[in-house]
Amino acid sequence: MAEMGVGIEDVVELEQQQPYRTGYHFQPPNNWMNDPNGPMYYKGVYHLFYQYNPRGPIWGNIAWAHSISYNLIDWDHVDIALSPTDPELDINGCFSGSTTLLQDDKLAILYTGKNCRNHQVQNLATPVNLSDPFLREWTKSSLNHMTPNDIDPTKFRDPTTAWLGPDNMWRTAIGAKMVTGKWVPLLYTSSDFKHWTRSTKTPFGLLLENNELVLECVDFFPVGINSSDGDNRYSNKDQYKNKFALKVSFQHNERECYVLGQYSPEKEEFKAESSDFNFRIDYGKFYASKSFYDPEKKRRVIWGWIMESESRADDIKKGWSGLMSFPRTIVLSKSGKQLVQWPIKEIEKLRGEEVSVHNKELYFGSIFEISGITPSQADVEVSFQIDVDELREAEPMDPSWVDPQVLCDEKNASVKGIFGPFGLKVLASEDLSEQTSIFFRIFKINDNEYKVVIGSDQSRSSLRDGLNKTTYGAFLDLDPRLEKITLRTLIDHSIVESFGGEGRSCITARVYPKLAINKAAHLYAFNYGTKSVKIFNLKAWSVNNAQFVTRREERNH
Ligand code: FRU
Repeated sequence: MAEMGVGIEDVVELEQQQPYRTGYHFQPPNNWMNDPNGPMYYKGVYHLFYQYNPRGPIWGNIAWAHSISYNLIDWDHVDIALSPTDPELDINGCFSGSTTLLQDDKLAILYTGKNCRNHQVQNLATPVNLSDPFLREWTKSSLNHMTPNDIDPTKFRDPTTAWLGPDNMWRTAIGAKMVTGKWVPLLYTSSDFKHWTRSTKTPFGLLLENNELVLECVDFFPVGINSSDGDNRYSNKDQYKNKFALKVSFQHNERECYVLGQYSPEKEEFKAESSDFNFRIDYGKFYASKSFYDPEKKRRVIWGWIMESESRADDIKKGWSGLMSFPRTIVLSKSGKQLVQWPIKEIEKLRGEEVSVHNKELYFGSIFEISGITPSQADVEVSFQIDVDELREAEPMDPSWVDPQVLCDEKNASVKGIFGPFGLKVLASEDLSEQTSIFFRIFKINDNEYKVVIGSDQSRSSLRDGLNKTTYGAFLDLDPRLEKITLRTLIDHSIVESFGGEGRSCITARVYPKLAINKAAHLYAFNYGTKSVKIFNLKAWSVNNAQFVTRREERNH
């Protein structure tokens, strides 16, 4: 840049104009993006496709943009893989879908196209040249014969990565609105990946029996305590011994929900462990997620779309909208009850300065600054210790507090408690007029049972008006008598991704500080509960910028 005559003042000015661009979270150079599509690893290269408007910062002209990486951190934006070009297939948009690795190292994309009649139809795309390491060109063909007549043809979308049963039949699930008004993931089968038939079985139907909520972006994959259990490639015949997760995205409240269960491809049956979608992938701003199995590192990795909380006018002004979560590994918890997520290890390569704090007592009202790193671009890991002998004095849990988000909204980070609120204040201005607090509270059910809740309070995240400043909350499956309360938080200018209890409950927040930007941002640990809490161990790192290179022509709106 210096060579082109751009001085440091210009860079600073640029940063100030765009204080919400991220340093290490994936973002296109400009314009609108939404769902991650078909992430995959193929012959040494990671690929990420995503919903993208090449013409501007609001949703429309939806194409599959394509970026490639060798490490899931640094990305090259290459040519758009699928554009809306064909009247019968996708002239009104190339909607979400997945990639599948087929036999003989072949590859396929299954995606939904919105055609000239505004019907949502399922299409196939395959690489033009499998020996191009970046798989830049894709050719499309129709799977129109998949459209049945008992569904609303305008609401039928987002095929999953396909899985191969022991009968050598491929299966994919696609969300559909039946003429009865209910949304169900329908199952389709195929022996050749080209001709698909609707299965007479609806293994996922029962769960959604009373459901008229718009259901998008189904994901269905095996999970186990070992990260390699997430392998759903056709060659892994053992995958059916594992539990499976069925994930759906509910459009009305933008929630990513899942349920675990046992899946039998022989009986074509999914026996869910709960009668509803009893967990969320993330309890904050995180939507339309998609996971893939990474055979190189033997792990399942999940991404989510982090949408904006500011207005359309703000998006137009800044010229872009949306970003991706940091990629997370996803496995079954040791208890087997739920999934746990954790930022991929590769983040360590970006770590710069490091600070640590041990055995620091936080008395009621303490605010303790963590300095020595860049608080606007950081990775923080902290464990809190409480005095277990005093736990019986915790506030009683009111049985009416069934919704942790409502609870955390009422008892936000500024409401004094007994055990908690304690946690971190991130992207805070020096005078604390701006701050985002990630906090814990402990409630007592009886002498032997406690409830831990994690919240993310955005109510004071910005001095700007007109933003969505919802406080999020989640219960944490953690016994405070047996375990320390841990928090990992990734901070990246306008995004705060928090992982409570080693990843059992995750909350992502999107914030737009006015003062607490770049060097003016601060990081604190705090306690606003009358019982003191100890920082048992805290480590925090500055996180350097990831490298993003654009190798396609970008047009501004
Ligand atoms: C989810 C979604 C999908 C659809 C895509 C269109 O955010 O609505 O159901 O395929 O976005 O961009």
